[in-house]
Amino acid sequence: MQELSVRHLLGIKDITHEDIQLIFETADNFKDVLNRPIKKVPSLRDITIANVFFENSTRTRLSFELAEKRLSADVINFSSSGSSVKKGETLLDTVNNILAMKVDMIVMRHSSPGTPHFLSRHIKANIVNAGDGTHEHPTQALLDSFSIRERYGEVAGKKVVIIGDILHSRVALSNIFALQKQGAEVMVCGPSTLLPKYIKDLGVKVELDVRKALQWCDVANVLRIQLERMQMKYFPSLREYTLYYGINKKMLDSLNKEITIMHPGPINRGVELSSDVADSQHSIILNQVENGVAIRMAVLYLLAAKG
Ligand code: CP
Repeated sequence: MQELSVRHLLGIKDITHEDIQLIFETADNFKDVLNRPIKKVPSLRDITIANVFFENSTRTRLSFELAEKRLSADVINFSSSGSSVKKGETLLDTVNNILAMKVDMIVMRHSSPGTPHFLSRHIKANIVNAGDGTHEHPTQALLDSFSIRERYGEVAGKKVVIIGDILHSRVALSNIFALQKQGAEVMVCGPSTLLPKYIKDLGVKVELDVRKALQWCDVANVLRIQLERMQMKYFPSLREYTLYYGINKKMLDSLNKEITIMHPGPINRGVELSSDVADSQHSIILNQVENGVAIRMAVLYLLAAKG
């Protein structure tokens, strides 16, 4: 059996193109399973997984939990709100107490960049990063690329623009790494205040004009404005952001070309995307969510095999 090159999935930066291909081929098989009347396999029936979330989530948390259940793993869920973290317990004590209950794998979301990397140096269990602050969100990038592959047959050679709040986005960084490893061309587009200063060092094109970006691309991955991470004003108002960077049907129709619209969710409807685009035939947003379960099944299955 082919193996991943890593014991933990901490970020796309740490994995190889071959790892990504292996995850996709494994996810293809699990997607077949998910389309059967009985959507369950016994692959991880001896494994216990803890979903440890220190930050809000809808898609990622439910998708991991469903992936674990479809693989027949035992699952426990930890949420920092309502936990003894509120009484002053450290992160490492919290995780070590969870592991003492014979847990094999930790799926972690945390608001501080590098938290799963820190844990990986102190615990034996496999760790999957479900989003660490503004750093990486590897399974999101994998399901995004998997969805592009599903739409076009391959990711190599595709032109993908990531639009919006790049500065505060872990999805952007993981997508840049994932797309480049697969041979796609990557552009970022947004107001200059929401583009990190070092962004060109990552080998991406930079465009401030969203119309030019849409003219260039095959795929537009539109990101949420992350108001909860903004300590200051990066643009005058949401209305002005929408005027310059919001994508609506009239704009897409005026381009006279086919573009695939993606969004990792949650969407600020009427801000970065109008509803007539989010719900249109251009959009593969719900395909991304569907594919997330198969991708996470593949990641958990392959990491469990590493022990
Ligand atoms: N895409 C994503 O990470 O969504 P959630 O924050 O709802 O998990």
